[in-house]
Amino acid sequence: MEAVFQQGLNLVIEMLRGLESHPDFRADASTLQRIVLLSNTARDTAVTDESRVSEAPQTGVTVSQHTLLRVPGQMPAPEPGAARQSFEELRAKVLVCTKCPHLVAFRHSVVFGVGNQNAELMFVGEAPGADEDRQGEPFVGRAGELLTKIIQTMGYQRSEVYIANVLKCRPDIPAGTPGNRQPTPTEMATCLPYLQEQIELIQPKLMVALGGTAMRGLFGKDEPMKLLRGRWHLFGSIPVMATFHPSYLLRNQALSLKRQVWEDMLQVLERLGQPISERQRNYFLPKQ
Ligand code: URA
Repeated sequence: MEAVFQQGLNLVIEMLRGLESHPDFRADASTLQRIVLLSNTARDTAVTDESRVSEAPQTGVTVSQHTLLRVPGQMPAPEPGAARQSFEELRAKVLVCTKCPHLVAFRHSVVFGVGNQNAELMFVGEAPGADEDRQGEPFVGRAGELLTKIIQTMGYQRSEVYIANVLKCRPDIPAGTPGNRQPTPTEMATCLPYLQEQIELIQPKLMVALGGTAMRGLFGKDEPMKLLRGRWHLFGSIPVMATFHPSYLLRNQALSLKRQVWEDMLQVLERLGQPISERQRNYFLPKQ
């Protein structure tokens, strides 16, 4: 609880410092929102921690906050004796991250992730866009609508899976420039530990990497998506299906591309042991 109060204080100090060094720094209503979120997190953490004491003995992996070796494609080894951090502790830590000052100066929110913390299936995208930055939730723009449709067509609700990005902050672009830019390798390497910690806590059975940037962030793999998609890759011990990013599908409306993504999702459903209807099997096949 005290730690979260300290984080809130740090956030205010960080914002005030930012005002000095960045004349266009955004210390606006979103700052307040983040502090409110932190205090909610503090309350939730207190509740979770209390209920945990009465639960069965903890058996999960142990996680340290700062000192583990972070390598793409690998889960860091647990540090002996370290206490297991809770999801809310991780969220509170990520929400006040200032590791990339240029992104801190640009962002409206830190987009931590959304969904079921015990999900069997996790989707990993690249980075928040303008809509996500504004709303503080991943995949809520046009690409997000398509991803939600894909998830529902697979037979899940969006709230049943977990959705996160490699980068938790929107990559900055010059004022007045439309669109987004891809995260740099340094930004992704800096942020990867947070994703690794999310994955450690969620322990999904399977993951889906959406697009080439997610594959580069997760695995450091720089091969064309044409070669990576439709295949299983291992992130630690978790199988990851690589598929095209929903934005790519929005830019290229070819039925054959939709079918390829759908075939990747059928592989995911099969590996999860989920029932697949005849109708689901035949989506996006050319009409006979
Ligand atoms: N694209 C991504 O990769 N992530 C988002 O959250 C939104 C769009």
